[in-house]
Amino acid sequence: MKYIYLKETESTNKYAKELAKQGADEFTVVIADRQTAGYGRMGRSFHSPDSSGLYMSIILRPDISPEKSLYITTAAAVSVSRAIEEISGKKCGIKWVNDIYIDSKKVCGILTEAAFNGSDTLDYAILGIGVNIYTPQEGFPAEIKNIAGSIYSEPADIKKEFAERITVIFAEYYKDLEEKNFLDYYRENNIVTGKKIKVINGSTSYDAETIYIDDEFRLIVKDQNENTTALDSGEVSIRM
Ligand code: BTN
Repeated sequence: MKYIYLKETESTNKYAKELAKQGADEFTVVIADRQTAGYGRMGRSFHSPDSSGLYMSIILRPDISPEKSLYITTAAAVSVSRAIEEISGKKCGIKWVNDIYIDSKKVCGILTEAAFNGSDTLDYAILGIGVNIYTPQEGFPAEIKNIAGSIYSEPADIKKEFAERITVIFAEYYKDLEEKNFLDYYRENNIVTGKKIKVINGSTSYDAETIYIDDEFRLIVKDQNENTTALDSGEVSIRM
């Protein structure tokens, strides 16, 4: 593992992508104190103020088919949850598919970006992880203030410890990624199962109830007409 620490960058995912294109080794980990244009799923921006958050991206060169790239995100969700619980003692919940919550507030988002080269396996993948380690002094911006939370309420110099522990736990799962040794933990610690949710697909949405998470990490939901659908995280997001 090789850690690269930056004071500031637009996005560690973007930075790591450039390194990957230039042939950087797997498990090169880029960490920045702050991001000026951090982003998440569905093109949303990811608030990345100075120091209070951990913004990291891991370069991977997985020997898996593109359909299995979701295993990376879900293995990472379990790794982050375990690292947080170990280091802080706080109990985490995983919100399908890529968010970590503590006490009903989102403390971490994960974004995996995969590059294809036309063959059966991925060329490279960038695993991006953003964790709110402590609450920024100025608080969270108005638009996310009701959903965003942090692990600690006061500044804590503990980012490096989190980054390393997350990477080590993730590397263990990644060794045998297709074994999905993280599936049980992912299911057991998911906070969406059995809940009423809103399924959002572009500009449309509908109410549903979550039934379970299948072996490919699809969320199985039942709508109000009792129709069951397997949701693919690439297309939809959910609101609880
Ligand atoms: C989400 O909540 O939709 C995912 C957020 C992912 C944010 C992380 S922060 C490090 C890396 N760099 C980015 O620009 N995004 C990811």
